[in-house]
Amino acid sequence: MLRDAAATAACLLLGLSQLANAACECGYSVNKTSDSEFAVFTDLIENDFLHINTENLTEYGWQPQEYNVTAEAARGKFGKQMTVENSQTNPFKDANAWSGATDHSGDPGLQLWVRADHSNGLIGGAELAHLRNDSRYGSFRVGMKMSAVNGTCGAFYWYFDDSQEIDMEFLSKQFNDSQGAVNLVLQSPDSAKLLDASNTSTFRVAPLPFRPDEMYHEYRFDWMPDKVQFYVDGEFLWEMTEHVPVKPSRLFLNHWSNGDPHWSAGPPEKDTPMTVSYVKAYFNSTDEARAKVHTQNCPTFDPAKVCPIPAQKGAPDGANMETYFFSKDKTENKTPGQNLYKSGATSNLLGSSTTFITFLPLILALFSCAFSL
Ligand SMILES: *[C@@H]1O[C@H](CO)[C@@H](O)[C@H](O)[C@H]1NC(C)=O
Ligand SMILES: *[C@@H]1O[C@H](CO)[C@@H](O)[C@H](O)[C@H]1NC(C)=O
Ligand SMILES: *[C@@H]1O[C@H](CO)[C@@H](O)[C@H](O)[C@H]1NC(C)=O
Ligand SMILES: *[C@@H]1O[C@H](CO)[C@@H](O)[C@H](O)[C@H]1NC(C)=O
Ligand SMILES: *[C@@H]1O[C@H](CO)[C@@H](O)[C@H](O)[C@H]1NC(C)=O
Ligand SMILES: *[C@@H]1O[C@H](CO)[C@@H](O)[C@H](O)[C@H]1NC(C)=O
Ligand SMILES: *[C@@H]1O[C@H](CO)[C@@H](O)[C@H](O)[C@H]1NC(C)=O
Ligand SMILES: *[C@@H]1O[C@H](CO)[C@@H](O)[C@H](O)[C@H]1NC(C)=O
Repeated sequence: MLRDAAATAACLLLGLSQLANAACECGYSVNKTSDSEFAVFTDLIENDFLHINTENLTEYGWQPQEYNVTAEAARGKFGKQMTVENSQTNPFKDANAWSGATDHSGDPGLQLWVRADHSNGLIGGAELAHLRNDSRYGSFRVGMKMSAVNGTCGAFYWYFDDSQEIDMEFLSKQFNDSQGAVNLVLQSPDSAKLLDASNTSTFRVAPLPFRPDEMYHEYRFDWMPDKVQFYVDGEFLWEMTEHVPVKPSRLFLNHWSNGDPHWSAGPPEKDTPMTVSYVKAYFNSTDEARAKVHTQNCPTFDPAKVCPIPAQKGAPDGANMETYFFSKDKTENKTPGQNLYKSGATSNLLGSSTTFITFLPLILALFSCAFSL
């Protein structure tokens, strides 16, 4: 009996200490480290835009761009006017909910608006650049719902310059009754010279079996030194192996129109948003200070200290609107040493379902104790 009590106490202590442990010290992996192919990345960016309420997105790592382009420079019928005000957050009223009423009208998340008014010759649009400019190789993911109004281009992309860019672009003119398309582009010296990627080997219009303006979907690219793979809702879509970028740079989001009938078309007949529910990026950094932090966290590579990134299964919408964030995980600190900005993480401890998850390791520890006694 006494021995059992001591064993139970030891088990309990073990369970409790597991709660306080940090994890992911050696990074985040696409696929399990036991899989035949996997990739480990050291750094992360996570934003839960369904719960971000701010007028200053820079605090969350995203810098809204403010610039004008003339029609001539934009190579369209109209110029572009990118403003800070065209990016607006619209969170759920209930910070712990994943459905229900939102603060403003329209879909929940970060809205990037394209304006119908072009009386000054410029069409209003929105663009955000991430502050982290040191990403090289990684898995970059966005949850978003595209504009339903003909005449805009919405994009999730990584950009160094006009010859090193990974791009997923959506033209609302390509959405019809049953389906849509995504334009996959790796810009190259050829496309930079021609100012057009459409005749190069690393351009593909990939049909999608759904309308991208009807639900949120996850669009993703995994960038490795020898290839870029594109995914939709966790399913492999396409791979490119030429013109793979080699420089470090940053992520962008934008939504715009310049009236060019060959690309964005438009202007749209009414103001229209593209709405982003999350951004999740797991990547390697070229920054020396970040490398030092990583070496401190993970002096020798240990697969047990690598956290596999959960693959998105299906569209992150409706009953599946709640998705996983390492930065919101309250069971353990799964972002040791990470530079998080504000992630939009709300306290998960208040939600009843998450309270269960919070204590899950303890419950599991008690179970395993019960069996070992
Ligand atoms: C993950 O596994 C899939 C399927 O085996 C493979 O196609 C993909 O390249 C792997 N990803 C990485 C980053 O290794
Ligand atoms: C990313 O960084 C990790 C840790 O330094 C390294 O093991 C891995 O090979 C890097 N991945 C790529 C694609 O460079
Ligand atoms: C927005 O936040 C950034 C980063 O914290 C800060 O530098 C900037 O001054 C803020 N801008 C405004 C208008 O408050
Ligand atoms: C863009 O053009 C508009 C209209 O002429 C002007 O009001 C605005 O200040 C300009 N913005 C920038 C960033 O130059
Ligand atoms: C990123 O930006 C910082 C600050 O502007 C700069 O010092 C650094 O060289 C940039 N890094 C890269 C990889 O471009
Ligand atoms: C969108 O508008 C363009 C003209 O600007 C037209 O050619 C195209 O058929 C329209 N697309 C849809 C899906 O209505
Ligand atoms: C609908 O759009 C897709 C993708 O753009 C295209 O492949 C398909 O032919 C279109 N269908 C019709 C009926 O227009
Ligand atoms: C692409 O190539 C085809 C055939 O060579 C040509 O007719 C077309 O004008 C080219 N398109 C662009 C945008 O350069």
